[in-house]
Amino acid sequence: MSELELALARLKAGELVAIPTETVYGLAADAANLDAVARIFALKGRPADHPVIVHIASSQQLNDWALGIPADAWKLADAFWPGPLTLILRRQPHVLDAITGGQDTVGLRAPSHPLTHELLKRFGGGLAAPSANRFGHVSPTRAQHVRDEFGADCPLVLDGGPCEVGVESTIVSLIHEQPTLLRPGGITREAIEALLGKSLTHHTDSGTAKIRTSGLLDSHYSPRTHLVTGEYAHLQPAITQARANGEKLAILSFGPWAGDAATSAIHEMPDNPSEYARLIYDKLRQIDRQGYTIIFLQLPPATPGWLAVNDRLRRAAHTRI
Ligand code: TXA
Ligand code: MG
Repeated sequence: MSELELALARLKAGELVAIPTETVYGLAADAANLDAVARIFALKGRPADHPVIVHIASSQQLNDWALGIPADAWKLADAFWPGPLTLILRRQPHVLDAITGGQDTVGLRAPSHPLTHELLKRFGGGLAAPSANRFGHVSPTRAQHVRDEFGADCPLVLDGGPCEVGVESTIVSLIHEQPTLLRPGGITREAIEALLGKSLTHHTDSGTAKIRTSGLLDSHYSPRTHLVTGEYAHLQPAITQARANGEKLAILSFGPWAGDAATSAIHEMPDNPSEYARLIYDKLRQIDRQGYTIIFLQLPPATPGWLAVNDRLRRAAHTRI
């Protein structure tokens, strides 16, 4: 039996399987099986009211899960699926409350990773799959990250190699007249706005958020090592202080590091947003394994091309200076 057939058999039996996608690895279960979906929440330690995305093979299955699908949704699916875009739509009545967090909406996405695309085609139904990490932790972008994350409790991991995009999908809500960007990600806001010929509302104020998107919580995607983010001018004095305190420092610089390199491990990050996104979670996990006591990360520019990366860095940071 091939790995893919084994994964298929396990999913049909109501078990969990970690699946590769172009964004991050997902922890998948049959979206129509309540016990299977409950296993995701138990393994992740995720609060029950956080909705999960249903993964499907293509837009041909949209009608199986969603109702009253607006023209904008079809346009987006035609242009960007399979790919790193999740659409929030009205749900069909049969969609489990465990998946929607009790809301009357459902998140749907057709991932492009060839292994998972094939798995979904053969499975026929939908796969509920949040990122395959414990709640609040950094998303996994390699099969080994998933194994590290769950240890002895780890389910079968379908190894599809390192994820190409490296940060989670863009989430767009089409529930109201005006489409809303709930989470920036692999598909840029500009590309969506150009296609729809309208601007997206960007939902940023987590304090007043009515829609429960865990990516909107202030602390999310965090490494275990204390992460401090900021611009160079703010970081430099904090680094001097940390050195004086005997901290074991790692620095993630944006391009070449301009400061003193003594006693620190310097990791130079790419100055291209796609490259940066592809590497960042792996980098944070590597540093987590190496016994540093503090990470200083020099932020990329706050320009539109860096929206998704800056969003994740803001949430991953324990302190922003
Ligand atoms: O790229 C991705 O989207 C990855 C891969 C595995 O597909 N998945 C992922 O899942 O990031 P997760 O559960 O870590 O994040 C999904 C986000 C959560 O913030 C959740 O609250 C939001 O999607 N979401 C899901 N259904 C929703 C709904 N009906 N309304 C609002 N937000 C929803
Ligand atoms: Mg997640």
